[in-house]
Amino acid sequence: MPSALPLGDPAPADGVLPAQAAEGASSRKFSLYAHIPFCAVRCGYCDFNTYTATELGGGASQAAYAATAAHEVAFAARALEASGVPARPMDTVFFGGGTPTLLPAGDLTSILAAAVEQWGLADGAEVTTEANPDSVTRDSLQELADGGFTRVSFGMQSAVPHVLKVLDRTHEPARVPQAIEWAREAGLKVSVDLIYGTPGESEADWETSVRTALGYEPDHISAYALIIEEGTKLAGQIRRGLVPPIDDDDHATKYMLADELITAAGLGWYEVSNWARTPEDACQHNLAYWRGDDWWGIGPGAHSHVGGVRWWNVKHPTAYAQRLDRGESPAAGRETLDAQTREVERIMLTARLAEGIEVASLPPAGRSAVAGLIAQELVDVRLAFAGRLVLTLKGRLLADAVVRQLLAD
Ligand SMILES: C[S@@+](CC[C@H](N)C(=O)[O-])C[C@H]1O[C@@H](n2cnc3c(N)ncnc32)[C@H](O)[C@@H]1O
Ligand code: SF4
Repeated sequence: MPSALPLGDPAPADGVLPAQAAEGASSRKFSLYAHIPFCAVRCGYCDFNTYTATELGGGASQAAYAATAAHEVAFAARALEASGVPARPMDTVFFGGGTPTLLPAGDLTSILAAAVEQWGLADGAEVTTEANPDSVTRDSLQELADGGFTRVSFGMQSAVPHVLKVLDRTHEPARVPQAIEWAREAGLKVSVDLIYGTPGESEADWETSVRTALGYEPDHISAYALIIEEGTKLAGQIRRGLVPPIDDDDHATKYMLADELITAAGLGWYEVSNWARTPEDACQHNLAYWRGDDWWGIGPGAHSHVGGVRWWNVKHPTAYAQRLDRGESPAAGRETLDAQTREVERIMLTARLAEGIEVASLPPAGRSAVAGLIAQELVDVRLAFAGRLVLTLKGRLLADAVVRQLLAD
């Protein structure tokens, strides 16, 4: 079951943004997110806005989706122009899901081509798609690369069959190295996603998963603590005692093990859950989110942000397609963030980055928290004295607590 959308102000049918969106836009970067809301099966832990064929029902067709998404691209270009936001070439593009690679590669490249036609791509732009290892072939990956994709992020999650089973993953572990090899042959950069803390996963299981992933020599690794999302099948299994609950201490131990192994293999952390082989291999699209750049999110349930104006689309693919067919904005609601809220968000997001936060940019309450953070060994003492707050390993484990201290009144 996908999670609920936020409340907010109504969004106008013509998609025109409040004046604030255009202020200073020409000096900000621009990215595109394309949400592909389809999966072959729903994994028991996942509450992303995605639909299997049975969940979708009548009215919304996967086959028509690329054309519908291209309509939103054209709508976006018109709405930005009418809002006085200058067109900028896209620095990053990210196709996420759902399972983008459930659609034919030609559908993904046609959505990308529609966006490139509107905005163009900046030099060296990063163009990523998420992919499940069992929904790609050598040919489909080549077609993606030929159509302009530069990077693929595979949902590996674990290398251990009993862990994959609890997560409801459908792929055979051996499928992952095969898919990575094909991606490399096609010239694509490769990232893998791992999940730790799955019920029943031992420390040895997690070590096996991390070592196996590192053996594939990816350019990038994301490792996420399993979140038990309300309303998911896994949450129900835990509530009924069919599967053991998750444990924060187990998460911390596994995070430290992952960091040790991944760092020893030559990748460096650049955000709490993300490691890259070189600084250029860091996911530029996610960095754009964390740095507060502009992005348009196309697709059902997709979120967008331009100059402190944030909006989100209706969630169901049928309602989404109907809005665009009527020539109306698919936005379900929006909010215009004031300067103080934007500042709070900047601190929440950049505190988690290895580039850290400049102490001088913090509000007085944040600056007065610095001595305590140093004493608790949550930030690097040397960098803090040089004017920059960067989390230590202990600080990364307690990143939310660090943010609370920085924002405390
Ligand atoms: C929405 S998925 C899309 C990619 C692709 N469908 C897949 O599953 O591999 C992106 C990533 O989110 C992570 N994810 C999804 N649900 C999660 C949860 N409940 N806890 C932690 N990570 C989660 C998984 O690692 C997944 O690879
Ligand atoms: S394949 Fe990915 S998006 Fe689809 S249900 Fe599983 S985790 Fe969620």
